[in-house]
Amino acid sequence: MTGAAAAEPLVLGIETSCDETGVGLVRGRELLADAVASSVDEHARFGGVVPEVASRAHLEALVPTVDRALAGAGVRLADVDAIAVTAGPGLAGALLVGVCAAKAYAIALGKPLYGVNHLAAHVAVDQLEHGPLPSPAVALLVSGGHSSLLLVPDLAADVEPLGATIDDAAGEAFDKVARVLGLPFPGGPHIDRAATAGDGAHVPFPRGKYADGTSDFSFSGLKTAVARWVEARQAAGEPVPVADVAASFQEAVADVLTRKAVDACLAHGVHDLVIGGGVAANSRLRALALQRCEAAGIRLRVPRPGLCTDNGAMVAALGAELLGRGAEPSRLDFAADSSLPVTAVTAA
Ligand code: KG4
Ligand code: ZN
Repeated sequence: MTGAAAAEPLVLGIETSCDETGVGLVRGRELLADAVASSVDEHARFGGVVPEVASRAHLEALVPTVDRALAGAGVRLADVDAIAVTAGPGLAGALLVGVCAAKAYAIALGKPLYGVNHLAAHVAVDQLEHGPLPSPAVALLVSGGHSSLLLVPDLAADVEPLGATIDDAAGEAFDKVARVLGLPFPGGPHIDRAATAGDGAHVPFPRGKYADGTSDFSFSGLKTAVARWVEARQAAGEPVPVADVAASFQEAVADVLTRKAVDACLAHGVHDLVIGGGVAANSRLRALALQRCEAAGIRLRVPRPGLCTDNGAMVAALGAELLGRGAEPSRLDFAADSSLPVTAVTAA
C-alpha cells in the first residue's frame, strides 16, 4: 500500500439486499477486502429467492462476514472511518438485517453512516477497477431485479433515469429461461456457460422494443417465445438443443441491451458507458458491448465479473465516494426502503 493511499479514509460496506451477505473494505478507491456469504443454495430448490430464508441467512452470516473482511484486509474494526450500507431497493427483511447491523456498528464506533442506493453502488464499484467515472456517463444497470439506462452527471448526487424495463428484468429473464431449459437457479451463469457450445443465430428470437427509439426494455415476450419454442420441440418428440437455445436467447438480450446503451450515449453526446449488475458478468454481453462501443467511439467500462454480482465492495465504494466528497451522512433513523428510487443515491 502506498503512503498516500494509507492516508485515505477506510470505509466498511455492508450489502444484504437479496441473497448475498457482502462486506467490503475500501480505502479511497483501493479495494482491500471483499467477503461474500451467499444463501443461494438454500433457494435453489424453490427456483427463486425466498425472502424469509434470505433474511435468516443474513442474520447468521453478517458478523462472521464482517470479521472475515477485516481479517482479509489486515485491519481492525477500530480502524474503520465510516460505514456504508445498502438502504434499498431490495427485499425488505433482508435489507433490515444489514441496516440494523450497520447502525449498530456506527453507534458502537462513533463513526458516520451512509445508507446508500444498491443500484448506484453497482455503478460505483467500477471506480475500484477503472478509476474516477467521467462525467457525465451513461450506465446500463442489469440485474435480477432491475434493468435501466441511467444518465449519471454525478454519481454521488445526480443519477437520472433514461429508461427501464417495462416488464421483466434482464436477470429475471435469464433465470426463467434457464428453468425452461432445465438449468439450475440462478440461471444467468448456467446459460452463459451452456451458450459457449451453441449457435447464437440458431433461433431468431424476438428483440422487444428494439427500434422504438426509447431507452426502455421488454424481456417478457422473449421469455415467452423461448418457452413456446421449447414446448413445440418437446411436443414433436424432438430433442431440445439446449446450447443453441441458450446462445440464441443470450444473443437477443445482448443485442437489445447493447444497441439501446450505445443509442443512449449517442443521443446524449456521452462518450463513456459503464455496465453494472449481475447480468454484466455475461460474456456475450461484455463482448458485444465492447465491439459496438468501439465502432461508435464510446469508451466502455465493465467491472470484473466478481464485482458485477452483489457484493459489499460496491457499497463501500459508493460510501468512500460520498465520504470523499464531504457528503452529509445519513441520519441514524433512516429506514430500509425496499423500493428506494434510483434517483435517491443516499437514504433520506
Ligand atoms: O446484481 P445481482 O447479483 O443481484 C440483483 O441485484 O438482482 O444480479 C443477479 C442476476 C441473476 O438474475 C443472475 O442470473 C444474473 O444476475 N447473472 C447473470 C450472469 N451472472 C449472474 N446473467 C447472465 N450471465 C451471467 N454470467
Ligand atoms: Zn444487485
